Amino acid sequence: MSKPTVVTMPGDGIGKNVLEEALRVLEALGFDANYVHADVGWEFWVNEGNPLPQRTIDLLTEHRLGLFGAITSKPKDRAAQELAPELQGKGYVYYSPIVGMRQHFNLQLCIRPCRTFPGNPLNFVRRSADGGIEEPLVDVVIFRQNTEGLYAGVEWTDPPPEVRAALETHTKMAAFKDVPSAELAISCRIFSLPACRYITQKAFEYADRHGYKSVTVCEKPNVIRETSGMLRKAAKEVAAKYPHIQLWSTNIDAQMMWLTKNPEDYGVIISGNMFGDIVSDGFAGLVGGLGSANSANIGEDCAIFEPTHGSAPKYADYKVSIVNPIAMILSACMMLDYLDETEKATRLRTAVEAVIKEGRVRCYDMMKLTGSPDVIQQGAASTEQMTDTIIEKLK
Ligand code: NAI
Ligand code: MG
Repeated sequence: MSKPTVVTMPGDGIGKNVLEEALRVLEALGFDANYVHADVGWEFWVNEGNPLPQRTIDLLTEHRLGLFGAITSKPKDRAAQELAPELQGKGYVYYSPIVGMRQHFNLQLCIRPCRTFPGNPLNFVRRSADGGIEEPLVDVVIFRQNTEGLYAGVEWTDPPPEVRAALETHTKMAAFKDVPSAELAISCRIFSLPACRYITQKAFEYADRHGYKSVTVCEKPNVIRETSGMLRKAAKEVAAKYPHIQLWSTNIDAQMMWLTKNPEDYGVIISGNMFGDIVSDGFAGLVGGLGSANSANIGEDCAIFEPTHGSAPKYADYKVSIVNPIAMILSACMMLDYLDETEKATRLRTAVEAVIKEGRVRCYDMMKLTGSPDVIQQGAASTEQMTDTIIEKLK
């Protein structure tokens, strides 16, 4: 395979701190790639009215591979206020650039592995029936539909008359007949059968390849019948080709309750966009939280890898960065998997595992400290020290 070119998009806040660390790790691994920087984030919204400039789309179109840090998003009105004075009132509307990239490149799959790293003090523990303490080994991989559902962006406050008229053909709209349009907000949950089939097919392939015994569709088909129902139906069709893998179905609310009861029972989980976001944060919370939650956005011929966390602006400008780089580093590891750089990915994952298990070097979140510049004095590793320790273990 020819040498890949990785489009690096640090974005905002701590996205910049952690992306730099992932690049150091890739270099230490001897990963042979070209890197090209791309602009994305708040600065470009403020100064250009577009947080995802066309030149960034062009670079991704050319190279089809990206590493993304994080961006800062703000509500529409706040975003509009912060636009440069010369851009104000010209109709610019803020859109999250990461959601924009997922949609533009049809990155249908968001894959979020949530695996226990033994020795992580943030691992979930619970009481056993005899009063003892158990630490279940979680090994869940969430497949979140990444482009449709409630995040598709088909929504209105004060819907136009033709939208209202169309909705009123549905008998259930009668409940809202006396509400003036100006007082109505509508966000559409749209699922398409091809996307439902695609994600379930990919999830079963993954489960098959990695030896998972179950695939769970986590939705709410008893209430949200049409959309959740479609995903479930697609999963049933696909499941028929994999008789050795069980198909389970859970409701998102019950799943969140069972999160702490029996998280070790689940394997691959498929959800729509919104519920996938929720259930993946839930499982991530059992295995280290935002400091280690990693993810991949994957389409047919383009993929972007990013930590699950955001730009954590309050920690962005510390003289010594304290945030945990592991989420970003494991996201880079997912990129290596995607590129079939299996040996390097395994070496990296093993190194991260060893550093966590050893417990000698921990970022503030792993010590359960409140983030502040003082955490370094309290024995927490800096972002850079954590990376150095991981690099040391690669040798
Ligand atoms: P956040 O993920 O940025 O931070 C929440 C808290 O999690 C932080 O205050 C910190 O305590 C902890 N945290 C996050 N990353 C960490 C790390 N690497 N190491 C240690 N602790 C870490 O979420 P928040 O505060 O809700 O949002 C901040 C900004 O980020 C917002 O503008 C939001 O829209 C944006 N955001 C962007 C995302 C993305 O780029 N994909 C995802 C989530 C939020
Ligand atoms: Mg989220």
